Amino acid sequence: MRKNSNRRSEKTGVRKVVRLRGAGKTIVLGVTGSIAAYKSAELASLLVKQGHQVFAVMTHDATEFITPLTLQTLSKNPVMTSFFDEKENWRPGHIELADRANLLLIAPAAANTIAELAHGLANHPLAAIALATRAPILIAPAMNGKMWKSRGVEFIGPEEGMLACGYEGLGRLWKVDDIAFRAEFLLARQENLIA
Ligand SMILES: Cc1cc2nc3c(=O)[nH]c(=O)nc-3n(C[C@H](O)[C@H](O)[C@H](O)COP(=O)(O)O)c2cc1C
Repeated sequence: MRKNSNRRSEKTGVRKVVRLRGAGKTIVLGVTGSIAAYKSAELASLLVKQGHQVFAVMTHDATEFITPLTLQTLSKNPVMTSFFDEKENWRPGHIELADRANLLLIAPAAANTIAELAHGLANHPLAAIALATRAPILIAPAMNGKMWKSRGVEFIGPEEGMLACGYEGLGRLWKVDDIAFRAEFLLARQENLIA
């Protein structure tokens, strides 16, 4: 640690809790359907010890791995698992959390949730909060290594020109001869890789 750092630390049991200058913030902790979901309990506990307000938001599948009760107890706040939990207030709770968050931390983040966020879906509270919040988002992925890869999808086109809808610009399907040629090329390359 740097000598002139603003960090203060204190011992609580065996864990050294590091207090950063930004302590006392609101952290929305997203928990998803990964085998690592049980670790979110320790993470919630640690963030609370660091002086933050933690609000856990779980996907439906996350509740198969760890109970909302565990996170509610450790975070000392209600846990959101569905849009339809939101009965206490006329104001939608997910938007309130999105506005209030200083950080959205998703840990663990399952491949499925990461894909949903990449597409801007909002079909459950965690996805909707990710879409609505202006806070920084920190994602801690956890998945089988074979799922964590760049898929290497190739694109051909689109090209510019007259579009069927009457517009002119980018969006036309590439020339079919070129597409067929490229398809043959990829097939041949794959065959060479296997041989
Ligand atoms: C035992 C078990 C462990 C799993 N672990 C993971 C995991 O670590 N990472 C992952 O991306 N998916 C994992 N999955 C699959 C996810 O649970 C599944 O994709 C689910 O749809 C994720 O939903 P969510 O992203 O809405 O939470 C696991 C499934 C099972 C049954």
